[in-house]
Amino acid sequence: MKKKNKTALIFGVTGQDGAYLSKFLLKKNYVVHGVKRRHSSINTYRIDDIYRDQFGKKKNFQLHYGDVTDSLSIHNIIKKVKPNEIYNLAAQSHVAVSFELPEYTTNADALGTLRILETIVKIDKNIKFYQAGSSEMFGKVVESPQNEKTPFYPRSPYGAAKLYSHWITINYREAYKLFACNGILFNHESPLRGETFVTKKIVSGLCRIKNGNQKKLYLGNLYAKRDWGHAEDYVEAMWKILQHNMADDFVISTGKQYSIKQFINMVAKQLSMKLKWKGAGINEKAYDENKNCVIECNIKYFRKSEVDTLQGDYSKAKKILKWKPKHNINSLIKDMVDHELNLLFK
Ligand code: NAP
Ligand code: GDD
Repeated sequence: MKKKNKTALIFGVTGQDGAYLSKFLLKKNYVVHGVKRRHSSINTYRIDDIYRDQFGKKKNFQLHYGDVTDSLSIHNIIKKVKPNEIYNLAAQSHVAVSFELPEYTTNADALGTLRILETIVKIDKNIKFYQAGSSEMFGKVVESPQNEKTPFYPRSPYGAAKLYSHWITINYREAYKLFACNGILFNHESPLRGETFVTKKIVSGLCRIKNGNQKKLYLGNLYAKRDWGHAEDYVEAMWKILQHNMADDFVISTGKQYSIKQFINMVAKQLSMKLKWKGAGINEKAYDENKNCVIECNIKYFRKSEVDTLQGDYSKAKKILKWKPKHNINSLIKDMVDHELNLLFK
């Protein structure tokens, strides 16, 4: 008898990771259902190509209106879709914005996870659950690099909400014997990254400056260090976490870290732009070959409490899941720069 295709349900399907994960799972012959929020304008640009690819074919990709702050919608969708696996990627994911919207961020990023877990317990305890945890939970790091045993010290409402989700996922695993797992993912980027995250802001800003479409880029702290990977590699890790024979938690990272300033210099190099840095602190600026100031710092982009340094140790995932990143920082930047230049030339 032919084996039935697995069904996955993705909360947060319209985001960067939702789009990459949908494509990854469809290639693995999953039937993919995604939950999208109602917007006043269309915001499905990251997954529109999946729809287009489906014309004339069996529909293996379906969207449902829902919201992780709305228990009824969660219940109704899970009951209807009957998924084998749920990926909870839904979140107010911007750390700086979480200081402006702390209550909403907590509702979506912490209680949203609880609502899904409770629904799984009520409807079908066999549904596997993936929680999109974050290296932001390590916050003011107590050791470097960070692994699954490193103590947490969140530095934002976002980090604190993700930490609640981390522990409630473990609690439901232990209390109800759910196959519920946490991925503790370090920063991952791609051409589909949201416009206000620093890598995308730098790549699109410098491409536009190089092309004459923009004069200057305004940034915040240039000396924070991040461990940046590619979203394409990280969604594979999410899937691997749910295919392991036992529910567990994994750090997913590259093990390498760079400062924002180093990232800027690497992007400039790929664009053959020669940047000269002058000044210090808030007055540090970058100038191009024609002595035009192209990068300036602005106090509004500094965090109320910063996460200064993040660097992950992914050896557990490497050993147990046989996962390792395929991309490095140069191939990540090249992918992002090529995409941006293509858009500009279109
Ligand atoms: P993203 O691009 O911001 O996508 C977030 C997704 O969540 C979007 O589809 C968004 O929908 C949806 N969402 C937000 N609030 C919601 C709500 N109340 N109900 C239902 N859906 C809601 O984020 P990402 O980079 O893909 O990250 C995916 C997940 O991994 C997030 O939980 C993030 O916190 C976590 N994470 C990300 C990274 C990273 O570096 N990218 C690292 C660690 C963890 P709209 O399109 O309608 O806004
Ligand atoms: N966004 C932004 N904009 N960040 C800036 C800017 C700027 O203009 N200038 C400097 N930064 C610094 C921030 O202060 C931070 O230290 C660093 O760049 C990275 O900022 P983001 O790209 O916004 O990412 P993040 O590290 O705060 O959060 C991302 O990664 C987390 C995993 O560690 C998000 O994707 C989170 O959802 C994710 O959990």
